[in-house]
Amino acid sequence: MSSEYYHTKESVEEYIKLAEDVNGAVIINKLTPYLKEDDSILEIGSGPGTDWEILSKRFNVTGSDFSEEFLIKLRESYPNEKFLRLDATTLDTTQKFECIYSNKVLHHLSDEELIASINRQYELLNDKGIVCHTFWRGEGTENFKGMFVNYHEKANLKEVFSPQFEILDIDYYDEFEENDSILLIGRKK
Ligand SMILES: C[S@@+](CC[C@H](N)C(=O)[O-])C[C@H]1O[C@@H](n2cnc3c(N)ncnc32)[C@H](O)[C@@H]1O
Repeated sequence: MSSEYYHTKESVEEYIKLAEDVNGAVIINKLTPYLKEDDSILEIGSGPGTDWEILSKRFNVTGSDFSEEFLIKLRESYPNEKFLRLDATTLDTTQKFECIYSNKVLHHLSDEELIASINRQYELLNDKGIVCHTFWRGEGTENFKGMFVNYHEKANLKEVFSPQFEILDIDYYDEFEENDSILLIGRKK
């Protein structure tokens, strides 16, 4: 589902303000034991680049987003770095990675798109590669200001990832409210 929300300058500015005090440090701490220093990571939906910056201190990270507005911001903030324009569903790149990471991005995909994305991630990962993704917890879908949100529960995430990935960690965590989010870490089978 295309989330129109992220395609205007105003909404991107609004998101950056809203997310000012939020970052994925806790998630990245959980992911780190599964990786080696300098491993290659593809980040899907880098947005303002907050997690990209934390990940880049230890790993070789390729940032990406499908929103041109976010890509303009990322290239302004980090002029010496390369960011790819990638849609999470198709991930149209020939590069291969040790890890694919996203923080609150894949909930913008429909169930069918999520399965297509997981299949593509499997292809882009090296042997025993790692996926690390977060989702909003809940049921059903909603459309807010042109932003499509697909809520998930542990059970359905396990079901869609486990054909290709051994689940290493799946847990609730708090973003704004208690247990409102889910972190999933998996290893390519
Ligand atoms: C909630 S923001 C999260 C941004 C960043 N990961 C963070 O934690 O601040 C969602 C991000 O996903 C991007 N996004 C939404 N749908 C996408 C898609 N289909 N493919 C790639 N990126 C997408 C948006 O442009 C935005 O940067």
